[in-house]
Amino acid sequence: MNVACTGRSRAIGARIAGHLGAGVAETSFSRFPDGEISLRTGPLDEATVVVGSLLSGDSLVELLLLIDACSGSKVTLVVPYLGYARQDRAFQPGEPVSARAIARALSTGVSRVITVNVHKDTVLSHFTVPASGVDLAPDVGDYIATLGLDEPLILAPDKGAGSFAAAVASRGGWEHDHLEKTRVSGTEVRMEPLGRGPWKGDVVLVDDIISTGGTLATASRMLLDQGAKGVHAVCVHGLFAGTALSLLRSAGIANIAASDTIESGESRYSAAGAIARAIAR
Ligand code: R5P
Repeated sequence: MNVACTGRSRAIGARIAGHLGAGVAETSFSRFPDGEISLRTGPLDEATVVVGSLLSGDSLVELLLLIDACSGSKVTLVVPYLGYARQDRAFQPGEPVSARAIARALSTGVSRVITVNVHKDTVLSHFTVPASGVDLAPDVGDYIATLGLDEPLILAPDKGAGSFAAAVASRGGWEHDHLEKTRVSGTEVRMEPLGRGPWKGDVVLVDDIISTGGTLATASRMLLDQGAKGVHAVCVHGLFAGTALSLLRSAGIANIAASDTIESGESRYSAAGAIARAIAR
């Protein structure tokens, strides 16, 4: 078995290969003069794990080309960050179910798909091959334990992330809760104060995705105003769109951490071990 990666997923791909004791196949992406993406791979084994997060149109094309180049091989597709999963229904008439469109496209030429903390598990049903999700809640809990905080509150910024916060908290025997969030626009949210009353200790905000940072920045400002000792933020997928990092820092967040599903300066823990265990199952 070998592992073949798209351009922006080489680091996590190499870590997955390390856990599996597999080799990393040579892949070289470049551009034709008109901007189209070209790919050349080295020799591939009979079974290949293709690793690529879906971050942009280019990363989708890279994944499709890589899967096609592996056509003589049995392919397990690993998409550490599955972009477009948040558009999981047509919110307005005339909109596509983007998650379904992407899942169908990525089902061709692969025998199974593995992804990580997909926005909603129902998205997995859109793949036309067996698809499973890896949950990094235990890894987030283990990372939080390294911060050495004294009895932190593990807090989800909305009800949807409440069960994730509960699973993270169970790793360290910490308390957990969730806030009530109302989305005002793509960049703006409104938060209700904690139902249990102000928390005077450390708070760790946990979420599946940080995109613009608006959600966690709003939560942080409110918690600090209400007397929290410190606010920390740990997510699975750190997209950090535009000025997200400076927004989060200016909202007083002491630590900002994400996994390596999207490699960045904030990647503080790895999804590779959990993914490798899912591949081996
Ligand atoms: C939404 O339900 C997600 O779980 C995240 O809370 C959301 O994607 C975060 O977005 P942003 O960082 O732009 O507020």
